[in-house]
Amino acid sequence: MQKLIIQGGLPLHGEISISGAKNAALPLLCAALLTEEPLKISNVPALQDIITMVSLLKQMGVHETEHGNGEMVLSAAALTHPVAPYEMVKTMRAAILVLGPLLARAGEAEISLPGGCAIGLRPVDQHIKGLQAMGAEIAIRHGYIHAVTKKLRGARIVFDIVTVTGTENLMMAATLAEGTTILENAAREPEIIDLANCLNAMGAKIHGAGTDIITIEGVSSLHGAEHTVMPDRIETGTFLVAATATGGEIHLKNTDAQLLDAVLDKLTEAGARIDSATNWIKLRMRTKPKSVNIRTAPYPAFPTDMQAQFMSLNCIADGTAIMTETIFENRLMHVQELKRMNANIEVEGNAAIVTGIAQLDGANVMATDLRASASLVIAGLVAQGETVIDRIYHLDRGYENIEGKLSALGAQIQRIQ
Ligand code: EPU
Repeated sequence: MQKLIIQGGLPLHGEISISGAKNAALPLLCAALLTEEPLKISNVPALQDIITMVSLLKQMGVHETEHGNGEMVLSAAALTHPVAPYEMVKTMRAAILVLGPLLARAGEAEISLPGGCAIGLRPVDQHIKGLQAMGAEIAIRHGYIHAVTKKLRGARIVFDIVTVTGTENLMMAATLAEGTTILENAAREPEIIDLANCLNAMGAKIHGAGTDIITIEGVSSLHGAEHTVMPDRIETGTFLVAATATGGEIHLKNTDAQLLDAVLDKLTEAGARIDSATNWIKLRMRTKPKSVNIRTAPYPAFPTDMQAQFMSLNCIADGTAIMTETIFENRLMHVQELKRMNANIEVEGNAAIVTGIAQLDGANVMATDLRASASLVIAGLVAQGETVIDRIYHLDRGYENIEGKLSALGAQIQRIQ
């Protein structure tokens, strides 16, 4: 198993380019299922989750060609096998995103239920409820969702809870339904706007993406298109936190400050100086960081995917911070690992009370999920001495070449077998 070894204590300095967003690219790849014609997607990040999704699509009959440089063409001329097997879904829950497109295009889908997840229960009841409202017949048998329909029809669906992939799944399904679908209490994440833009370029009629009411007028078919994946706002935020924690100065290219207002506000509150224009962000940190309280909530509020990284920052900040996780029930697993590095953190229910200390100690730690892994990398970068991070396959699911990018910023980080 691979590990990362980090020698801490060096401020990050320099310039790197941000990759395409994992959580935008995954649904965009699934959108290819909605048309017989080729869909060309650019700026696809080189990540394990993308590899898993592409192999899932291929075994359904999708033809894929890569042109290098993050450019990919997917062609779903014939869908031979509308099945997502357990082996794939268990490694990547986003596989549920094929359910809506498969039902809409092929009229049937057999998708393994994702099951439990390290960060929370993560049921898919809202995806199922929505598709049933659109006329799909759905049964759960032997751990699989069996869904069939002659033709989906438009419906008004009010989500009980704000769900990102739930909104994406139903939005994709509704593009080919008969009549108009209205999604209320929809998620407003920028990745949903990116998907809607791509679907509209394919001939869909979607209005309101980015607001909590999305209207989709069904069309009889979609056609091929070209689309560029938006920048990864969580990768962007992760590097910005790392620079703030280490007292560095970095310039991030190919990203967009408007995607992460809540995160930039918190970094400014922590003491960072931030400048940005349309496609770059610069951050400079000259002082010891100040503690910042965090409460995660759906977009545009503070993202759950940045909570763990900010916890590492708070570990070495001046003061005490209360960090409340409201999206997932079990997303504080990094606390135990950070405590192995001497962090002062108390957990009460879904909140962590973090009191900053002068310095973290390098230690052997274990990654437990994707964003928890990122928090350990940041902790390793600021710690005194050596940190060894195990189980970094979590990191490879969502950060493209993280050690390469950090090395380019002057970090001492190395991957070992
Ligand atoms: N939920 C339900 N029922 C549903 C769907 C969701 O109860 O049918 C609950 C979940 O259990 C959770 C809350 O609703 O408590 C929000 O979950 P959501 O469905 O929004 O999460 P997701 O769509 O499964 C996406 C991202 C996650 C990110 C969350 C929240 C993708 C592929 N994944 O997950 O990204 O944390 O939204 O913003 O877009 C990551 O990148 O590290 C990651 C976990």
